[in-house]
Amino acid sequence: MREERVIDPTPATLDDEFETTLRPHELGEFIGQLDLKERLSISVDASKTLGRALDHVLLSGPPGLGKTTLAGIIAHELGARFQVTSGPALERPGDLAAILSNLDEGDVFFIDEIHRLPRTVEEVLYTAMEDFQLDVVLGKGPAAQSIRLTLPRFTLVGATTRRGMVSSPLRDRFGIVDRLDHYEADELARIVERSAGILEVEVDVPSAELIAARSRGTPRVANRLLARVRDYAVARADGVIDESVTEQALEVFRVDALGLDPVDRAILRAVAERFGGGPVGLSTLAVAVGEETDTVEDAYEPYLLQRGLLKRTARGRVATSAAYAHLGLPVPAGAEGVADAQGRLLD
Ligand SMILES: Nc1ncnc2c1ncn2[C@@H]1O[C@H](COP(=O)(O)OP(=O)(O)O)[C@@H](O)[C@H]1O
Ligand SMILES: [Mg+2]
Repeated sequence: MREERVIDPTPATLDDEFETTLRPHELGEFIGQLDLKERLSISVDASKTLGRALDHVLLSGPPGLGKTTLAGIIAHELGARFQVTSGPALERPGDLAAILSNLDEGDVFFIDEIHRLPRTVEEVLYTAMEDFQLDVVLGKGPAAQSIRLTLPRFTLVGATTRRGMVSSPLRDRFGIVDRLDHYEADELARIVERSAGILEVEVDVPSAELIAARSRGTPRVANRLLARVRDYAVARADGVIDESVTEQALEVFRVDALGLDPVDRAILRAVAERFGGGPVGLSTLAVAVGEETDTVEDAYEPYLLQRGLLKRTARGRVATSAAYAHLGLPVPAGAEGVADAQGRLLD
């Protein structure tokens, strides 16, 4: 089996203890995403002033940027109960009906990975979101009876890593649709410092900045790197985290200067060397590095695109000149350059 990725941006489990410990509970503790926070806080304040349930909220963005955290914060700021489930967990309409019929007025109902709701379940959600009505079918066959229940006014918060996969009828039923972006290095350094405080480890400023720089713009990755650096410091360096200990730890865990791990580098190397720079189709590329296509698309590719190391074209993935340079390979004539240093327009 493949070793676990230190820089995996996806959660280990829904209630990972490490993650729960580090999760901010109030908007004021949530670092970065200033515009989004301002918009949410306006809507939350208005809902409290008006005494009305907050409009349904859809949050999208790559894994590990704080969607689940924000959903919990919204509930906390509203002083509401927080009920959690996920798209794949709601297999049948009855699974959803069971939760909806137990909601109280004002509850925040969170559906993670909402793009993975089965169609039949999604359809039940439409009337629940729009009219706060729930159609329940009792019995089977010709004797089946449909009854309509009125639900309390609740707020649905949906989260998705794939905004494009949320159907438009579902998306249209959210009053507030917003997205989280990758974090800036200084924000990540503050997140590392905050987490270090909670974990009761001392981290100096250069170390926090170094961890931040290798965290792929992602708080979950920053926290994971911090934990590994802490382990290294405890096991090999009297528990003190300074810049040189941090550098050594990151080296041991094979996270390079751009925050790439061995699989990221294998992907770039495959495109650059085996497929002559590309274009190469995603599934071919996935096979070449021994990963699932979905894993490459969801977990690896976004950051490589964002850093301008890979480019997505109609005919497949292409290695950019930055990728060759990063791998220490000669840059072939005609290699794709990237206009935007952040690569953000490529997505
Ligand atoms: N803005 C933030 N400030 C502080 N910590 C954060 C922030 N965003 C995310 N985190 C931390 O990163 C981890 C992952 O966040 P999470 O909300 O689970 O991400 P997502 O649901 O988008 O995958 C959490 O443990 C949380 O502690
Ligand atoms: Mg989440």
